[in-house]
Amino acid sequence: MARTPGVRPLDQLIRWPEADLARVPLHIYNDPEIYAWEQARVFRGPTWSFLALECEIPKPNDYCLTKVGDTPVIVLRTAEGAVHALVNRCTHKGSVLCYDSRGENKRSFVCPYHAWTFDQSGELKGIAFEKGVGGLGGMPEGFDKTKHALTRLRVETIEGMVFGTFSNQTPPLEQYLGAPMVAHIRRTIRGRTMQIIGRYNHIMPSNWKLYIENSRDTHHPSLLHAFFATFKLNRLSAEGGIRHDARNWHHLVFAKRHTDQGHEEYSPGKLRTMKADFGLNDPSLIAQWMEFDDNITNALQSIYPGFVLQQILNSIGTRQIIPRGTDECELVWTVVAFEEDTPEQRAIRIKQSNLVGPHGYVSMEDGAIGGFVQQGIKGDRDKQAVVEMGGSTADGQPTRASETSVRGFYKAYRETMGI
Ligand code: FES
Ligand SMILES: [Fe+2]
Repeated sequence: MARTPGVRPLDQLIRWPEADLARVPLHIYNDPEIYAWEQARVFRGPTWSFLALECEIPKPNDYCLTKVGDTPVIVLRTAEGAVHALVNRCTHKGSVLCYDSRGENKRSFVCPYHAWTFDQSGELKGIAFEKGVGGLGGMPEGFDKTKHALTRLRVETIEGMVFGTFSNQTPPLEQYLGAPMVAHIRRTIRGRTMQIIGRYNHIMPSNWKLYIENSRDTHHPSLLHAFFATFKLNRLSAEGGIRHDARNWHHLVFAKRHTDQGHEEYSPGKLRTMKADFGLNDPSLIAQWMEFDDNITNALQSIYPGFVLQQILNSIGTRQIIPRGTDECELVWTVVAFEEDTPEQRAIRIKQSNLVGPHGYVSMEDGAIGGFVQQGIKGDRDKQAVVEMGGSTADGQPTRASETSVRGFYKAYRETMGI
């Protein structure tokens, strides 16, 4: 197993119960050496990470900033209209080149420190004082600028969403996603032109994997989120299920709100979240129109490692997880409308944005619960989480009373980490 300098080999760091997806060792959430391996194997490994929406860089020479794991990345549209992604780290001494989160008319990137200049493909084009001053100093005669380009990611787009990978081993994006995931992305966006109507940046007090698990945890919504169950937005008694790609890396969890038959499990008093006589004074908050022929009203599509395409009623958006050390992460939510929307539809989407985000009626608790887990597991290096609901495989299932999607994440994690 190749070494990461200064970090112990993974087989000394992680002892996973042999061939078991239904147990997760708790020390993977707070070990700095495991975190360093994740950066190398997961985020800079053979995976596609979401970078940005194409509508964030609509014109030639626009750019925006993002991160892939810990690595800062510039996403840009070249003068010719292509989308490129470059590591935002000067090859001289490592300063970030760009610090404004977005900008336009940027044909080259000049480092703020000593003014090394890079073009839109990351090539080093200029070094201040390259020939010295007054014939003295400067770079040596044989210094080869072509050897000091910025690291460039492979980039592919699907339905207006830009993905990047550091690895030449990563399969093409659609092959990586698999046919069922591609079909659902196309079903959700349908070639429409996205417009950003809101963005939330949420710093959460937990390891990045705990948030990803939460977004794949299909049986917590009606238990943790009072709003969901009380107002019948998402109960396990509604028709729904879980789909997956051939490798079981990516999962789509879906539900059809209007098929809820009201199972006995949801009787008043049975669940903490259930109150018999609650209703909304202003029901327009959850007014919706049936946007999709399949009648799916809730769909969370998790793409390994850290991306979620969200549909909650008509609130459509992306979630991108950015790790910030072992016990903190940032979740970037971007909610969108479409140019093709009517003014009424756009107003509904804006109102439904209150459902999501750090303060969202159905997602506020998700920000806190990862922190609860992070607090609870401190010091318990030898203990394991149990993720056995619905069995121990990561296949799709005709029910959401299952942890199959969480197991799918750990199947992908173990395969990319090589453990
Ligand atoms: S660090 Fe960028 S030019 Fe010196
Ligand atoms: Fe949740």
